Amino acid sequence: MLGVVTASDRVVPPLDIAVLRQRAQALLPPAVWDYIETGAGAETSLDEAENAWHRWRFRPHVLRDVRTVDTSTTLYGDRLALPVVVAPTASHGLYHPDGERASVAGAGASGAAFCVSTRTSRTFEDVAAAATGPWWMQVYVTAARDITEAMVGRCVDAGASALVLTGDTPYVSRRARAEHAAALVDAAADDNLGRHLTGRDISALAADPGITTEQIRWLHELSGLPVLVKGVLRGDDATACLDAGAEGIVVSNHGARQLDRVVPTASALPEVVAAVGGRAPVLVDGGLRNAYDVLVALALGADAVLLGRPAIYALACGGADGVRDLLTALQDDLAHLMGLAGAPDLAALDPSYVVASG
Ligand code: FNR
Ligand code: LAC
Repeated sequence: MLGVVTASDRVVPPLDIAVLRQRAQALLPPAVWDYIETGAGAETSLDEAENAWHRWRFRPHVLRDVRTVDTSTTLYGDRLALPVVVAPTASHGLYHPDGERASVAGAGASGAAFCVSTRTSRTFEDVAAAATGPWWMQVYVTAARDITEAMVGRCVDAGASALVLTGDTPYVSRRARAEHAAALVDAAADDNLGRHLTGRDISALAADPGITTEQIRWLHELSGLPVLVKGVLRGDDATACLDAGAEGIVVSNHGARQLDRVVPTASALPEVVAAVGGRAPVLVDGGLRNAYDVLVALALGADAVLLGRPAIYALACGGADGVRDLLTALQDDLAHLMGLAGAPDLAALDPSYVVASG
């Protein structure tokens, strides 16, 4: 059955993200590697992201029947084998020749969902054709609104199941390690976005720093799809987005690539979960590197997590199979830990399973 793992199963070796990361670095050109790895500013938030998950300690239950553990969930009508979405990251063609076609296929093969970036290096139609599972579209609202309308329309026609409006990027931040990245990303975006320029200057493709919560309802009306807002770090913003029509919140600091010295997502998550109060799914990303981190996020109230850099490493190392193997190993590890924590399924998890240490 989808998402169900039996206690004695070990389908794959445990996930070792450090090894995957090293292999990806060895394979990729230094400028691409810097683009992936960079944080904003002095990279204070980047340095803190992973450790923030390590600060929580488990309070497991004993004597719960965990002969089988079910990691599956349903999000926006789609059944997932594990509560994981591959995060929207720009320009997968920089990491693997098959680009997003490989990552969407790998996510589908593992039973996870995939979110395609606005800045994809394959066309949305190409990505949809390679999809074997649910996929969502991440939206940067362009200053020239007709371009966003056309792109969203293409994704709706191609079968996207949700839109993810990125709220933390009025413009791309200054990133010392990735000065040359703009050239890499813009070149890669041509295929998919360039067709909408119709004689206009490239600046028509830039994200509009003037957007507000009003664009949430606009996107919903345009697409008929649920709209999640990504980049939320405060409870009051989460409720404002829901009041404005959002049907999901992604607690994120953009992989520490936007405003530096923001709070770690592991710290922001409980406040947002409390403010949302079950009105809509809450997702989280940032620094999640293994099943321990994911279990903490789920216990704190996340309905699912997104993985950014780990999925890129897997894509670079092994294309679609690499992404599938990463996510399958993560699911297996998560089931293993849930059993040890006395949680036979995701519904069993709640904040009582964790306590902040030190
Ligand atoms: C991103 N992220 C991102 N987010 C977004 O909304 N649209 C985008 O195009 C991109 N592009 C992008 C490129 C690269 C190379 C990275 C690393 C990240 C942010 C991404 O969706 C996610 O929030 C973070 O990557 C999560 O943190 P981790 O998992 O990388 O630690
Ligand atoms: C980034 C942009 C493209 O983080 O979202 O690189």
